[in-house]
Amino acid sequence: MTTEKTGTHGAILQDKAPEKDAAIVELRGAGKSYGNIRALHGVDLKVFPSQVTCVLGDNGAGKSTLIKIISGLHQHTEGEFLVDGAPVRFSTPREALDAGIATVYQDLAVVPLMPVWRNFFLGSEMTKGPWPIRRLDIEKMKKTADHELREMGIVLDDLEQPIGTLSGGQRQCVAIARAVYFGARVLILDEPTAALGVKQSGVVLKYIAAAREKGLGVIFITHNPHHAYMVGDHFSVLRLGTMELNASRSEVSLEELTNHMAGGTELAALKHELSQVRGVDVEELPEEEDLTAPVASTEGKS
Ligand SMILES: Nc1ncnc2c1ncn2[C@@H]1O[C@H](COP(=O)(O)OP(=O)(O)OP(=O)(O)O)[C@@H](O)[C@H]1O
Ligand SMILES: [Mg+2]
Repeated sequence: MTTEKTGTHGAILQDKAPEKDAAIVELRGAGKSYGNIRALHGVDLKVFPSQVTCVLGDNGAGKSTLIKIISGLHQHTEGEFLVDGAPVRFSTPREALDAGIATVYQDLAVVPLMPVWRNFFLGSEMTKGPWPIRRLDIEKMKKTADHELREMGIVLDDLEQPIGTLSGGQRQCVAIARAVYFGARVLILDEPTAALGVKQSGVVLKYIAAAREKGLGVIFITHNPHHAYMVGDHFSVLRLGTMELNASRSEVSLEELTNHMAGGTELAALKHELSQVRGVDVEELPEEEDLTAPVASTEGKS
């Protein structure tokens, strides 16, 4: 364990330029069981720098389990997990962070009443002066937060405003800029657009693309194939804990991706269930083929 950790840290300290086609993070036949429940099984995944890898799947498909392994919250129980080609097994999220893997959770760890700049540096505050009169370097933190947010194209009126007053989308963006500033090489986003409206989702997608431009490998977890297809370079679809589709952008169309996400059989079953509910006239529901076809009307908007 210790040697692995040193190896990973060593790789960062050397600051070697990532080889263009070397995966930063890789899973080989990885799986995770919670007691008797096999939440994930035989998953292969590669995350490359300057690429957005989308992980899609329905509720309970194993998306969160997958990212919990990579972010150091849980350990895999089968297969291999490699960082920079070396097998790792993180025991805490701190170890993953030290290896350059940052995770932005949907329920962001922010202090709503604290100003934006304070949240930007939460847990890694800048200080000045020697001990024991060391104190927070407020000016420097404000200046840096302002610069970093602008660098990502995020313009906020006032960094003094409590972060709780920002919209959900803006908060996600601050979290992305923060991860970039603190040197993340891999950025994991767990359903960042799930609770957002059309416009705010667009803003978050823009910063996902900005993080990619900065050379990060982004893992974008989502239910929404339209959001995924707007920024994704690679698509992995999970179903009942196994990888059902693993395709690069050139290998899959939005239509195919949508069909994978909303399989015709599931929709037929749903229609059958609805027919048991009083007040729903299934004859008025669209035919199966219409249901599995991509929703053209939402495509441009989402
Ligand atoms: N701590 C746990 N203990 C037992 N079972 C778990 C645990 N966490 C997840 N599971 C099970 O593992 C499976 C995958 O769950 P997971 O949370 O990874 O799915 P998900 O794709 O993230 O779903 P959602 O879209 O609802 O967030 C589910 O059947 C779930 O009940
Ligand atoms: Mg989840």
